[in-house]
Amino acid sequence: MAGFTDPPFRALCHEGGADVVVAEMVSAKAVCHRNAKTLQMLRSFPGERPVVWQIFGCDAGEMADAAAYIESLGEADGIDVNMGCPMPKITGPGAGAALLRDVDAVLRMLERIVRAVRLPVSIKMRTGWDSRCIVAPDVAQAAGAAGCAYVHVHGRTSKQLYEGKADLEVLARVKAASPVPVIGNGDVNSPEAALRMFRETGCDGVGIARGALGNPWIFSRIKSYFRTGHIDPEPTWQEKVAGAARHFRRALEFYSGDEHCYRGLKGHLVKYFTGHPGAAQLRKRIGTVNSNQEMARLIDEAASEDRGALAA
Ligand SMILES: Cc1cc2nc3c(=O)[nH]c(=O)nc-3n(C[C@H](O)[C@H](O)[C@H](O)COP(=O)(O)O)c2cc1C
Repeated sequence: MAGFTDPPFRALCHEGGADVVVAEMVSAKAVCHRNAKTLQMLRSFPGERPVVWQIFGCDAGEMADAAAYIESLGEADGIDVNMGCPMPKITGPGAGAALLRDVDAVLRMLERIVRAVRLPVSIKMRTGWDSRCIVAPDVAQAAGAAGCAYVHVHGRTSKQLYEGKADLEVLARVKAASPVPVIGNGDVNSPEAALRMFRETGCDGVGIARGALGNPWIFSRIKSYFRTGHIDPEPTWQEKVAGAARHFRRALEFYSGDEHCYRGLKGHLVKYFTGHPGAAQLRKRIGTVNSNQEMARLIDEAASEDRGALAA
C-alpha cells in the first residue's frame, strides 16, 4: 500500500505472521533515472524478508531495466508488476490498471521483465478495466505464458476503485484459468473472510492490505483459525497500544530518529486506536501531534490505566 507499506510496517507484518510482504509501488522510470527519493524507498529492514518489490510503468524496456536494477541491490525476493492502481496520475500515461486494456502488450512486457531477472516475477491486477472488460482470467494466462511465478488479483475493476465488494466469482474464474498460483485479494479483514476467500475462489493464498493496518496480528489470527478451527480473541486495548508503541519504536529505529517520523505514523496509529471508550478522542489528538516527543507521550497516556481521563 503506497504511503503505508514501508520497512517498519513490513517487518511488523512478518512478525504478525505474514509469509511474504510487498513494498509500496515505485516508478520504473524513477528507478531508471536513479531518482534519489525513489532509491530511498528501496531500502529494507532486517527481519522483513521475504519482500517483493513492486514497480509501475508502461514502457517494457524501462520496466525490465528497473527490475534488473532492483535485483542487483540484492535485497529483493521477487519483482511484482503493478496492474491494479486505478489513480489517474498512474493510469493516464498508461501504467497501473491501464495496462489491462491490452493483454498482448502485457504478455510482451512480462516476457521482457522475466528475461531481465532471475528473481520470481509476479503481477498484481484488478479484475479488469471496467465491468465490460473483465480480463483477469486472460491476463493470468498471459502471465503464466510469460513465465511469471504467480498472479495476485484484487476482485474489483479499476473503475470501481473501492466501491462494492470484491467479486469472488471472478476470482474463482481467474483461478480456473490460471496456469500459475493465484493470490486472492479484497476485503479480507478477518479470519472468517480469509476462509471465505479460499473456499469460494479456490485461490492458493490471500493478500491482505487495509485489514493489516493497525492490525498486523491478522496474519497469525488467520493461520491459527485454519489450524485449530477457533478464532483467537481480538487484541485487547493494552495489546493494541503496545502494538502502536512497537510500531513507533520500529519507525524511529529505521528512520534513525528522524524528527519528522511522527508524520508518517499518524495514518497507522489511528488504526490501532479503535474499539474502546476514548479511542475517537485519541484519534483526533493524533491529528494534532507535532513532534515525536508528543507522539510518544500520547502513546504513553493511552497505555496508562486512566482511560476515563482520555475519554473525557
Ligand atoms: C492507501 C492504499 C494504497 C495502495 N497502494 C497499492 C500499491 O502501491 N500497490 C498495489 O498493488 N496495491 C495497492 N493498493 C491496493 C491494495 O493492495 C489492495 O489491492 C486493495 O486495498 C484491496 O485489498 P484490501 O481489501 O485487503 O485492502 C493500495 C490500497 C490502499 C488503500
